[in-house]
Amino acid sequence: MRLTQSSTPLLDTLLSHGKKKVISFHTPGHKNGVGIIPKLRNFTKRNVYYLDVTVFPEVDSLHDPVGCIKHAQELAAKAYNSKHAFFLVNGSTTGNIAMLMSVCDPGDSIILSRTCHKSVLAGIILANIWPIWLQPKVDQKRDLIYEVSSEEIQRAIENYPEAKAVFITSPTYNGITTDLIKIAEICHKHNKILIVDEAHGPHLKFHPELPVSAAEVGVDIYVHSVHKVLSALSQGSILHVNSSRIDINRVKRVVSMLQTTSPNYFILASIDAARMQVVKYGYKIFSKIISYCEKAREEINKLPNISALTPKEIESKYYDFDPTKITINVTRTGLTGYQIEEILAKEYNIQVDCADMFNLIAITGIGTTKEDINRLVYALKDISKRYKGEYETWKLELPPLSTEVAMLPRDAFFSHNVKRVPLSKSVGYICAQTLTPYPPGLPVLTPGERITKDTVEYLQSLISYSSSGKHHPIRISGQETETLKTIKVIK
Ligand SMILES: Cc1ncc(COP(=O)(O)O)c(C=O)c1O
Repeated sequence: MRLTQSSTPLLDTLLSHGKKKVISFHTPGHKNGVGIIPKLRNFTKRNVYYLDVTVFPEVDSLHDPVGCIKHAQELAAKAYNSKHAFFLVNGSTTGNIAMLMSVCDPGDSIILSRTCHKSVLAGIILANIWPIWLQPKVDQKRDLIYEVSSEEIQRAIENYPEAKAVFITSPTYNGITTDLIKIAEICHKHNKILIVDEAHGPHLKFHPELPVSAAEVGVDIYVHSVHKVLSALSQGSILHVNSSRIDINRVKRVVSMLQTTSPNYFILASIDAARMQVVKYGYKIFSKIISYCEKAREEINKLPNISALTPKEIESKYYDFDPTKITINVTRTGLTGYQIEEILAKEYNIQVDCADMFNLIAITGIGTTKEDINRLVYALKDISKRYKGEYETWKLELPPLSTEVAMLPRDAFFSHNVKRVPLSKSVGYICAQTLTPYPPGLPVLTPGERITKDTVEYLQSLISYSSSGKHHPIRISGQETETLKTIKVIK
């Protein structure tokens, strides 16, 4: 059978198996839905459980694919012009860890910025590597944080020629992409491996009005959360390898080591379906979505106190913008993004993807309709008229984060040679924990890092800001005590 991009070999196999209603003497224990409690089954109906199967020859094995999974992965690789595609059932979280463990040997170092997702820090610890942290760019006018530019990557490679690889997050949550063309050129000129977390960009390749994607510029290894923008079920991601610089057998071993031996076939089949859908219909669907989003931004930008980030504000020599993301700044309402998120949910039945003190991020996807967008715009217009808050906004800023990493993060993370010291006395110690204040939503302290005066003062200012009662409290994730009075450090 000749497979084309219209084929969905894994989905077809699973559906044909499901339709047979085979008597199950395999896991899972619900046995084609019979054992699912009525409250749940009444809502979902029965058919979906016939697709929840285990590994057997008919449906192939994710860990050693020879049939429909192999074919589906090959089609995904072709769709993105990569050499190999690996389906992931625990999202790009696993993808990021797998990329680091595949590319780096213990003790290697890697250039990256703090904009990275928390899974990257997990990968650094698991792979036992040295991070060379770069300072992300803060845009105080728009309350946004950007990935580093190609110029900064060039400088970092010159300063740290020993680095094995460069890790880039593009697009960011807000849909801001960095200059991958130039970064790929720089990395390859200096013989560095380029790893890209493109979790938010599985659609980019399929529309000329979207920013250039990892697939198009020769990135060595990258990951897509197919579930974030396309139609895969949650957790469905693809890791792409597109380079002879990467040992493909090592990637296979690492991916297999990190994935469950009981993958959810419904997720796997939905990745296959989403690939076919975006290849065949992506251009048409995203043309519509881009135009709906443009219209929405225009309408939102007529409001006196709410605004939507526009491509024009971002597009530059270094950065580009994914117009399918609607980042809504609400600082002038006197309310926080968190509060407006709650109002949208409770009063308008709308849930955005995330909110911070300043912004809401409305992520559109292949299933977004014009009506959905109209409802969001209507709700924002209504909120703009009805609500006025009194929070004074915090100015988005970061301490210097390109700090000295004095100990391997893994050693600091697992160390028993630790003690707690008062925050005010922690300068100069090596940190043994991660602290991530929201905002800015990125770690200001990570294991292995030498604690600086700037970081301590920054944390102290967040604490006094939060405790003043006049502002929305700033949550500091990772603190192991009720209030952040002490930090865990290496003795
Ligand atoms: C930039 C980035 N990378 C990776 C991830 C993890 O992706 P997943 O949810 O597919 O595990 C996220 C999740 O939000 C993310 O924002």
